[in-house]
Amino acid sequence: MATWSAPGKVFLFGEHAVVYGKPGIAMAIKQRVQVTVRRCRFAQRPNSPYIAECLKFLDVKASVYVRSQLPSASGLGSSAAVTVATLFAINDEFQLGYNKEEVTGFAHEVEKATQNGRASATDTYVSAYGGMVLIRGEEKRRLIPPENFSIVIGNTQIPHHTAELVRKVAEFRKSSPAVANPIFDAIGAIAMEAMHNFDNPKELGVLMNRNQSLLEALGVGHPALTRMNEAAKNAGAFGSKLSGAGGGGCVWAVCPRSARNRVMNAFESCDGKPIPTAIDMEGVRKEADY
Ligand code: PMV
Repeated sequence: MATWSAPGKVFLFGEHAVVYGKPGIAMAIKQRVQVTVRRCRFAQRPNSPYIAECLKFLDVKASVYVRSQLPSASGLGSSAAVTVATLFAINDEFQLGYNKEEVTGFAHEVEKATQNGRASATDTYVSAYGGMVLIRGEEKRRLIPPENFSIVIGNTQIPHHTAELVRKVAEFRKSSPAVANPIFDAIGAIAMEAMHNFDNPKELGVLMNRNQSLLEALGVGHPALTRMNEAAKNAGAFGSKLSGAGGGGCVWAVCPRSARNRVMNAFESCDGKPIPTAIDMEGVRKEADY
């Protein structure tokens, strides 16, 4: 039996555009998924398509138990965390001997296979390594997170379907490349500017709000996301934007410390669930077995 855990993430900047080679920035968060893998000959087929794909990918038979602090289908990377923790636990339980980089690469392959071939390496990489990372095509750069970088997450509690939203954006790109491509370019440019402004919350907020507008132009907004973003800003946040695929799921806001409680109340007042969090610097780790 082997138990591993991996953190979720907030997609800070660049979601969707990152699928087309533009820069994206994500940050691992404290909330984790814990996965126990036990070798067995007659395992039941798992409910999660990600776990089923992990077992298929490494060609093993095992039972898999998941305990999660992350809401699923909400833009906080729960599928990636499940995938990463499952693959590391399989590698351990079956003594397969792959190194961290290899297993992290497998996690990206599994996500791609489960999402019709379209997935950036962002979620799986940040879940495996923790911290804050910039992903651009094959490039993966670990960023130095600013001290006191404090965010508040709000969950609309409306689940989204990442593969479906990624497919919708791909269709838009195919039918209107002259409109879609400049939007991806602008989102990429915002991510690059954001990289130099994490210690400047006011400017970061402006960039977040612009990124949100561009995501809406791509067609992945949702009235519940708009309500939560507006409520956060009215409560004193510098900026607020969705995290991940959009169409529901979570937003994250940057605000002065003095406004944190007000922003959390603002999320609640529009039927959202505030999720206080902090950066996770550890990434995937082995846990004591149950
Ligand atoms: O909603 P999530 O956590 O699955 O994030 C999806 C992020 C996308 O950029 C839309 C897709 C990807 O693979 O990067």
